[in-house]
Amino acid sequence: MNPDTAVSNPPQAEEPRVRIFDTTLRDGEQAPGFALDRHAKLRIAQSLEALGVDVLEAGFPQASDEDFSAVREIARQLRQTTVCALARCQSGDIERAAQALDGARRGRIHLFLSTSPLHREHKLGMSRAQVLDTAVAAVARARGLCHEVEFSAEDALRTEPEFLAEVFAAVAAAGAGTLNAPDTVGYATPAEVATLFGYLRERVPAEDVVFSAHCHDDLGLAVANSLAAVGAGARQVECTINGIGERAGNAALEEVVMALRVRAPYYGVGTRIDTRRLHAASQLLSTLTRQPVPRNKAIVGANAFAHESGIHQHGVLRHRGTYEIMRPQDVGVADVPLVLGRHSGRHALRQRLAALGHATDEATLDALFERFKALTARRSEIHDEDLAALALGLDPDAQGPWSIAQLHSASHLGSASASVRLAHEDGRMAAEAAIGEGPVEAMLRAIERATGCPLELTDFQLRAIGEGGDAEGEARLTARHEGRVWHGSAASNDIVEATALAVLSIVNRIAREAAARRAAPAPQGAIA
Ligand code: KIV
Ligand code: ZN
Repeated sequence: MNPDTAVSNPPQAEEPRVRIFDTTLRDGEQAPGFALDRHAKLRIAQSLEALGVDVLEAGFPQASDEDFSAVREIARQLRQTTVCALARCQSGDIERAAQALDGARRGRIHLFLSTSPLHREHKLGMSRAQVLDTAVAAVARARGLCHEVEFSAEDALRTEPEFLAEVFAAVAAAGAGTLNAPDTVGYATPAEVATLFGYLRERVPAEDVVFSAHCHDDLGLAVANSLAAVGAGARQVECTINGIGERAGNAALEEVVMALRVRAPYYGVGTRIDTRRLHAASQLLSTLTRQPVPRNKAIVGANAFAHESGIHQHGVLRHRGTYEIMRPQDVGVADVPLVLGRHSGRHALRQRLAALGHATDEATLDALFERFKALTARRSEIHDEDLAALALGLDPDAQGPWSIAQLHSASHLGSASASVRLAHEDGRMAAEAAIGEGPVEAMLRAIERATGCPLELTDFQLRAIGEGGDAEGEARLTARHEGRVWHGSAASNDIVEATALAVLSIVNRIAREAAARRAAPAPQGAIA
């Protein structure tokens, strides 16, 4: 690969094209910790339609009345995307799926039946012939009720290839337009997947069918296996936002899509996804499920475009292509600052200060670099607001002016309230209360009111430090205030207190910086 072409932005090819089948609301949502209510499902479905997914699997209508209603509502709302409902090869399931899809502009029934010897013997108690007949009868029944039918051979990657080809040929003849070969247990390797798809394409004599991959991530190979399937001719990939799904999850949609885009010359196929919406879709899912996206998650993690090492930062500042294979804007991340840390050099510090409006002469830079290095000895990440504080001659780790005198929070059935009493170093006291969807939102609102400092929360992560009864919760949050991004973190054995302290650390930094600017608009050491 020519490194100069690495930061490429190829147009999205119309054909040949891989269809993106999103199963966030079915395979993703059924995983523990990712449950969503009807309203949340609808919001996600709308964001997936805007993203440009070809098929959206909205649920399994026979599983519950809630699933049925969610599929029906999504089917009625979406106008572009094909809405799909899952069904076992049983008439009750098929009829319920068809009913749920009734109002859909484009609907698809997705049938599944295990084909592997292990599942035939231990799960279904069926012979090969019974599996074949059941699959064919179900496809014929579904085809009578819905224009589009997909058939999935559950545990396909552990099925005898010749039997799988036989089943696929028979269901295609019965009217299935998409033949999905799932690696249900995440067991296969990319070479095996490629071999199987090559074999199926040769052995299934159906002209217009689309072969589809559906890979689980038990060995961390879901995306690699999906791409191997595409390389061998699959033209639909089933995947989920942030890779959520059963056990270790499904192939991550954003990773599959960006691999096909960044390596377009290699794969020779595109998708219809508007990649600039990937980050927002990932954030929406994370917010609604209250599950943080790991910082190092490919494409959508907070570190995905952050360069910390001095050598990397220097390279990126000279030519982005040295260490960047795609642009943050391509996935919808508008302006990613270089995160400075202990590996960052003088050059990166100068550039970042300049980007923040603090041009420095050599002597000032020397002094600031000394203070910057001292700060990195205490902290792993240095954010823009820390640099602004340094440039203004402030101590980024200073406390106050606000501190907590008292706080209280309570939650009940999906709503929460919080009250705070804050002390200002000038002797004032401020007390406020607020409600919110959860204790974090309620606490944020109460502190905003008490301090008069509005904040828009953009990221919130909680993690345990230590184990057992001694564990503390660390709250890390990112918020916007008047167009600027601020970071706060704090730890406590009470997570609401950790959150309040983290919010207050942001409010205090904003207050200190504003006071410093008022006192000395052009302080020594910084030409703002
Ligand atoms: O993993 C799997 O086999 C499935 C099928 C229902 C497609 O999710
Ligand atoms: Zn699955």
